[in-house]
Amino acid sequence: MADLFEKINKDPMLQVVRVAKDQGFYPYFKPLSTTEGTEVIIDGKRLIMIGSNNYLGLTTHPAVREAAMDAIATFGTSCTGSRFLNGTLDLHKELERRLASFLGKEAALIFGTGYQANLGALTALLGKDDIAIADKEIHASLVDALTMAGCKLKRFRHNDVNDLERLLKEYEGASKLVIVDGVYSMGGDLAPLPEITALAKKYNARVYLDDAHGLGVMGEGGRGTHFHFNCVDDVDVVMGTFSKSFASLGGVVAGSKDVIEYIQHKARSLIFSASMPPANVATVMACVDILEADPSYAQKVHRNAAKVRNALREMGFNCGESVTPVVPVIIGNDMSTVFAWRACFDAGIYVNPVLPPGVPPNKSLLRTSYMATHTDEQLDRVIEAFRAVGLKTGLISE
Ligand SMILES: Cc1ncc(COP(=O)(O)O)c(C=O)c1O
Repeated sequence: MADLFEKINKDPMLQVVRVAKDQGFYPYFKPLSTTEGTEVIIDGKRLIMIGSNNYLGLTTHPAVREAAMDAIATFGTSCTGSRFLNGTLDLHKELERRLASFLGKEAALIFGTGYQANLGALTALLGKDDIAIADKEIHASLVDALTMAGCKLKRFRHNDVNDLERLLKEYEGASKLVIVDGVYSMGGDLAPLPEITALAKKYNARVYLDDAHGLGVMGEGGRGTHFHFNCVDDVDVVMGTFSKSFASLGGVVAGSKDVIEYIQHKARSLIFSASMPPANVATVMACVDILEADPSYAQKVHRNAAKVRNALREMGFNCGESVTPVVPVIIGNDMSTVFAWRACFDAGIYVNPVLPPGVPPNKSLLRTSYMATHTDEQLDRVIEAFRAVGLKTGLISE
């Protein structure tokens, strides 16, 4: 009889992982021994962190730390249950009211993670008679949710509104949802929301926006990509995560009262999983307080990203269509990308190598991302490190 585990040591992916580990080129699951936000220590080496999603640098903000500690002092460390039963605190309800207003919607619902928010909302909203029309580059959590929902899934070419219209026309009579990211997490480009929402209206489709990377960063005061494009009412459901700008862990969906009430009673990832711990909730509330009082955080992160992006483009690096704090350095070949990652590490900067399936084949890249709290001196060091890596690896020339 076959042993279930027999396949493990024969798995081709695992064999590549083991060779990469032996040769010191394995770039994933690296433990950070300290992190002060903009700088970290890995393998005993101090590096400038340009590979996090801590866009606003709020994980170490004194008021945010204090809010988390106060919540633990007041409520303890966990809710030990689902929102559905014993796991809803006043604090959860208050954060939902604050986020509904922040996101420009009637109501909001918070989940344990952003992944669970997408899973819960989409499996609630879509069934076998519905059509999901999604951008080719949407996040993996959306793909998983749409697969689990059992709806018909159609994909349009990335940010190609003509291709979107082709699908909307083809399914004109069906009940349908258009699904896009606001900020694409690998390319750092934006969905053309005004065109997308206009087409959705024309063909009677609803719109779902995953704004995991837009929340805190795009639009006035970081209210999201729908604010940036001034189409708040044209997006039906906005989803966000707290694991990036909001310095915590958890996720949110916001929309009309009816839609949120419906998701609340249907979303299995909400009902059959424990609620956000008090410290995580209080952290997000403190971040919303900071953003509402001081819109300069969102401005600073854009300024810092633009400084590095302009310098990299001037040197000859390919940064794609990035217009946000996510700035890819597109290399193409997988091995060259891993070598460039190692060279960056040795030069004192922490970046993320992204290979297929994270990106399409032959589009491997180094994902870099910037923070409102990076200093000019740190950014100058990043630019010089990239110049050295680019020349050493042949990605740029003098
Ligand atoms: C676009 C997008 N959506 C959803 C998620 C899931 O969020 P979380 O980390 O809160 O589970 C992520 C996180 O990587 C993301 O990048």
